[in-house]
Amino acid sequence: MKIIAQIKQPIEHEMRLFEDKFRLFMSSRVALLNKITYYVVNRKGKQMRPMFVFLVAKMVAKGEVNDRTYRGASVIELIHTATLVHDDVVDDSNRRRGFFSLNALWKNKIAVLVGDFLLSKGLLLSIDNEDFDLLKIISVAVREMSEGELLQIEKARKLDITEEVYYEIIRQKTATLIAACCSIGAAAVKPDSQHVEAMREFGELIGMAFQIKDDLFDYGQEKIGKPTGIDIKEQKMTLPLIYALNQASPKEKNWLINSIKNHNKDRKRVKEVIAFVKAQGGLDYAVKVMKSYHSRALKILENYPDSPYKSSLLLMVNYVIERKK
Ligand code: IPE
Ligand code: IPE
Ligand code: MG
Ligand code: MG
Repeated sequence: MKIIAQIKQPIEHEMRLFEDKFRLFMSSRVALLNKITYYVVNRKGKQMRPMFVFLVAKMVAKGEVNDRTYRGASVIELIHTATLVHDDVVDDSNRRRGFFSLNALWKNKIAVLVGDFLLSKGLLLSIDNEDFDLLKIISVAVREMSEGELLQIEKARKLDITEEVYYEIIRQKTATLIAACCSIGAAAVKPDSQHVEAMREFGELIGMAFQIKDDLFDYGQEKIGKPTGIDIKEQKMTLPLIYALNQASPKEKNWLINSIKNHNKDRKRVKEVIAFVKAQGGLDYAVKVMKSYHSRALKILENYPDSPYKSSLLLMVNYVIERKK
């Protein structure tokens, strides 16, 4: 059986119901918006975030989920989708989930507005149902994601990023949302329990590993449904490059910085930079760091008794670092 099908097995029913609800939550009376959201729901992603919500909920509440769990999962996926729509504008990226991004099809103006629409739909779903505890978790994540993206831009301009700052960026832009998935999974069924914080921490660790993996994809050639090799072009310095810079001689360092600053659109030069990063062991180093986050996440799961949900979460944690897209 495919690994994803195996992971989904104990939450199959929940994921099916979730998909119906999610579609409904996106609808609008504006025809243009409906056309676009129709396009969006039909190009669904891996849906890892709702999977985390349901698996965590069922693990901590011995198989139980409730309406709050469904709403929590939907809010998270709405916000995730909104941030991807905006991210493709910010990164000037024309592909997403194996097809054209919204900005490629409808231009930036519309993509920005659709992103805002999805974000507000998500927040309202919590407000209308008075899920204020969940709303708080989500709102913190939204703030952190914006800060993380802006910190990344700030550092891309100055090219002065350190490993510590890189971790802060990915914690904010990616790990907080996955942390929110896991803490919401717990909070929806066991509000005010110690699971909420334990699962937040678990999600944060796995979110760190997730983004390092995503940054590694950018150095590869595999077809992952979105462009690769665009980080350097966007002057986005990720862990492999930061490590290579730290290993480089002053002369090599100058060459690297100059390449990223002044020749980042020159394909041949970017290829040379990528080759240099690889030769310096930048990818191996990133894999090593990714695995250390992965094992710290696994440690947290050890505190929970065995169950089909825990088994799926274990598979999921491995999938995060072994996935092909
Ligand atoms: C992409 O997330 C954005 C990052 C945080 C790297 P996913 O890889 O989960 O995106 P989809 O939803 O499957 O497209
Ligand atoms: C991830 O950022 C998107 C957000 C966390 C908002 P990236 O720009 O690194 O991710 P991809 O590669 O476009 O999915
Ligand atoms: Mg980005
Ligand atoms: Mg991007």
